[in-house]
Amino acid sequence: MKDRSLVSIDDFTTGEILETLDLAEEFEKKPVQKLLEGKVISTLFFEPSTRTRLSFESAINRLGGKIVGFADSNTSSVSKGETLHDTIKMVSSYSDLIVMRHPVEGSARYASEIASVPVINAGDGANQHPTQTMLDLYSIRKTQGTLDNLNIFMVGDLKYGRTVHSLMMAMSRWNTTFNFISPEELKMPDEFKLYLENLGLKYYEHSDFTDIISRADIIYMTRVQKERFSDPIEYEKVKNVYVLRNSMLNNTKQSMRILHPLPRVNEINPDVDSNPKAYYFDQALNGVFTRQAILCKLLGLK
Ligand code: CP
Repeated sequence: MKDRSLVSIDDFTTGEILETLDLAEEFEKKPVQKLLEGKVISTLFFEPSTRTRLSFESAINRLGGKIVGFADSNTSSVSKGETLHDTIKMVSSYSDLIVMRHPVEGSARYASEIASVPVINAGDGANQHPTQTMLDLYSIRKTQGTLDNLNIFMVGDLKYGRTVHSLMMAMSRWNTTFNFISPEELKMPDEFKLYLENLGLKYYEHSDFTDIISRADIIYMTRVQKERFSDPIEYEKVKNVYVLRNSMLNNTKQSMRILHPLPRVNEINPDVDSNPKAYYFDQALNGVFTRQAILCKLLGLK
């Protein structure tokens, strides 16, 4: 994996994903290891972030590396009209690896073609979020004991939610049954359903999940992505379409876990937080260990 970029989860083979998850387990046991000493990592966030940016920065700090970059592109020369091309060209010469979040789909692939160092896609528009997928896989394997033959419910904004796109592609490797629960306006895009059909995998689409919730191994809740709507009235129509409440969890499997990439808005009622099936805050913590592992793999340090 040394010197490669991670733009789509499909950039890693199944073996490479499993190797990365195993390494993340080592970092969970021993988080402080000075493997990045002497390395500089750029974190370029053209869109807001709490978890992805800060867990990357926490991972880099725990590994003894140094960070340059910005959390707001208005403080960079992008605000003077500098192109992404020129920004990436410059930043490549200042650092050993670039972590980038950008609102334009395909921007991470473009950056990886310009950069002379590995690029990690920290989210490109509604397209992909592969490092979130790595921590989702880690969370699923840790809570279920396996990635094989699970029944995954993906709930909410399946159209604009990049995390569900990447996770669906990844989980298709382990004979997953997918249940897609969304309003008509936010259905899983055809290109991703075609991806499953070409693999001969089953998926089911629903507008409600209360009657089938007992079948779920994982319920993956998502926020309706307000920032991707061009018409605010359309957002208002769907913003509260699914709200998971504690009372809905009575007939769920004992081993079932609720994941959410966060931030949440209204889609998980706070009364779920104290239920042992709520795993979303642990899931976010797993982001530190998995991002430590990804950094080390792409820099050839482990
Ligand atoms: N899950 C996730 O990407 O969260 P942030 O937007 O806070 O980084």
